[in-house]
Amino acid sequence: MAKKAVQDVPVKGKLVFVRNDFNVPLGAAGEITDDTRIRASLPTLRYLLESGARVVCSSHLGRPKGEVIPDCSLAPVAKRLGELMGKTVAFCPETVGAKAEKAKARLKPGQLLLLENLRFHPGETRNDPAFAAELARGIDLYVDDAFGACHRAHASIDAITRCVPLAVAGLLLKKEIDSLRLAADEPARPYLVILGGAKVSDKIPLLKHLVTKADTILVGGAMAYTFLKARGMHIGYSKVEDECLDTCLEILRRAEAGGVRFLLPMDHIAATRAEANITVRIIRPGEEIPGEMMGLDIGPETVEAYEAEIARARLVFWNGPMGVFEVDTFSGGTMAIALAMAASQAMTIIGGGDSLAAVSQAGVAERIGHISTGGGASLEFLAGDKLPGIEALAEA
Ligand code: 3PG
Repeated sequence: MAKKAVQDVPVKGKLVFVRNDFNVPLGAAGEITDDTRIRASLPTLRYLLESGARVVCSSHLGRPKGEVIPDCSLAPVAKRLGELMGKTVAFCPETVGAKAEKAKARLKPGQLLLLENLRFHPGETRNDPAFAAELARGIDLYVDDAFGACHRAHASIDAITRCVPLAVAGLLLKKEIDSLRLAADEPARPYLVILGGAKVSDKIPLLKHLVTKADTILVGGAMAYTFLKARGMHIGYSKVEDECLDTCLEILRRAEAGGVRFLLPMDHIAATRAEANITVRIIRPGEEIPGEMMGLDIGPETVEAYEAEIARARLVFWNGPMGVFEVDTFSGGTMAIALAMAASQAMTIIGGGDSLAAVSQAGVAERIGHISTGGGASLEFLAGDKLPGIEALAEA
């Protein structure tokens, strides 16, 4: 069902609560190392301000578990948001209470305010209706633009929608839904999914769904070794989730039964440690990984096979690196996938921070069809799950 969006409703003069996802990575000195999510919030905020709304922005940052952790403060985000907007962003060190109410009351049409980290309050992750009601005090319109957090039934995402006159989608959320639906509903075929990263356990619901939906699934990264071990290969001391071996076999069986091609790496770049300048060995197809080594990237034959799959697909979704791409020695597979995605004629969609970092590192981010700001949220969306943050919004 389509959801009402911010452009469908009057906003002039209204006090608008915007839920953003400003959960950005911070460096050792507390600096923002990637501001993609802040930039992605700009269209909705600009639209609201130019339309004469009074805007209260909000977000979580990290997982402070209901306590005030200064390293998780949104103050650096307020500064960066102000620089990008080219205007002052007032920052309120609280989310609810007297200070927050005063800051809201001071807002004039065309002005915006950012509240402190919502997760400093224990009511946020508990989806506490009382906390939600406090957040909603005086609010005329709620706008959800936090796609990355839509899979969380938290107070500022779910309960708040029952405390406001109207709850609608922001422009970013609408774009995410429209783009990801291309893959979730009736995908162009061949529909190719590339999954990597460390853990297969994070992706089991998605994999179980994809074996009924995709035409081809390519797996890389550490998660491939759990599949390979399940199939009986000796994988040295590559990372494995032994508790997932049976599930991997079941997924492989389901793929075969459904006629879905499921490709695992056939060769590997292995070493004793994931360190730069370490001696590496290419493990050729049919060879096993020696006991003292671990697989740290996909090998050249796998790269070639995966590139060919990308070239023939009409829709490609990619989440998760093919190896330890932060270390140059083991970044070849991930970079090759990034470049092949950029060169492809297919609709290309990327979800998750690591894949975004990979296409940025390869210098091809602007050649990708849609880069989702959601990691877990994009996986749940593609797994066919209903996301609480989307469900709670008004129908169009
Ligand atoms: C994310 O970074 O994926 C979102 O901001 C959600 O964060 P969370 O996993 O801490 O809820």
